[in-house]
Amino acid sequence: MNSLRTSILRCATTHDIARHVKFSLTFAPRRLLSTPASSEPTLRRSYLYVPASSDRMLEKSLTLGAPPDVVIYDLEDSAPPTIHDKKAARQRLSQFLHQTKENLPAAERVAVRLNDISTPFFQDDAADILRYPSVGTLVLPKIHSVRDLHYVSRTIRNLNRSSAAGLRIVASIESARGVMGLKEIASWTSEFGADKGGELTALLANCADTSVVRTTSKRELLFVRSQIVITAKAFGLEAIDMVCVNYKDPEYLREECQDGRRLGFTGKQVIHPNQVVTVNASFVPTFHEILRAAKILHQMNIAYSNQRGAFGLEMEGGGKEMIDAPMLKQAENIIRLARAAGCDVPHVE
Ligand code: COA
Ligand code: MG
Repeated sequence: MNSLRTSILRCATTHDIARHVKFSLTFAPRRLLSTPASSEPTLRRSYLYVPASSDRMLEKSLTLGAPPDVVIYDLEDSAPPTIHDKKAARQRLSQFLHQTKENLPAAERVAVRLNDISTPFFQDDAADILRYPSVGTLVLPKIHSVRDLHYVSRTIRNLNRSSAAGLRIVASIESARGVMGLKEIASWTSEFGADKGGELTALLANCADTSVVRTTSKRELLFVRSQIVITAKAFGLEAIDMVCVNYKDPEYLREECQDGRRLGFTGKQVIHPNQVVTVNASFVPTFHEILRAAKILHQMNIAYSNQRGAFGLEMEGGGKEMIDAPMLKQAENIIRLARAAGCDVPHVE
């Protein structure tokens, strides 16, 4: 799945940048300050739910024009609720995973959302899905506390998956209790070690059970979403924003993405394939951001060689802003993300 190359709409192109500033460009940029080449992150911007109850959608997930960074095959809310239907969805997904193992994206791009641990379906879901090494991530809905994560982890250990190493756990925060327990949840590690019990890698913002009435401004969700981002950042996790249910309005989606990105989310959940391009394009740096970051790295190198730890950066509309170590870190991060997204990074002279 070559999602990185197909979704660089907002990235700087050579032409864009050359119009804005005079400098030389190189496509194999030199190593920048303290940024090791090997630390480029794998982008995980779009998480697309694919209902396991639909043969058609399962098949479609393999041929999408704009593939998501992560596909979530869903056994939970998009499958009807009866025991019969849940079992049928599980069997359908199992058969699909068995038959398509050659055609699936890499395991790090394939997730399954299980039914939550309080349901009679969880154990069977886990036993079935963990047989497939092609599934690299488990999405756990309705995580209210670390006790829930311990339970999940014990289940993984007991099932003794041959390749549990690298199994990612994504916790969906959906309740007021989950929000109250964020710090403990985000700092959780498996008592069996990541190799046997899985590793928490991301928090999903899903505030269905908080009594919040959602409006277009999303003002009422600001506190909860922001808490999720800050806590995820504090513990080195991805922070994935809520779905945009308004799936036929690209402009509305774009605004939601920008809002999420400004809050610090690293990606967004997606329910329809037509949302993927916008989400992937939104959760990468803009060309102005890349350009500014490249200038900061270049000028900080000069400042350091003159025994200075800060300098004044010319602002676009005139004036100067002070740049020091924290801004340098942000700039390095922007360059890493830009490279991971396949964007050109200018070499500023
Ligand atoms: N995954 C894979 N394929 C999908 C898809 C998805 N999530 N959503 C739509 N498609 C496919 C459809 O099968 C259709 O393909 P086809 O015409 O070749 O059969 C095409 O994309 C266009 O679909 P469209 O007609 O615009 O959508 P819809 O009205 O059939 O379905 C939803 C709309 C929202 C019901 C559907 O996108 C969906 O079920 N999304 C997932 C919902 C979900 O997972 N919810 C729980 C998580 S919050
Ligand atoms: Mg739900």
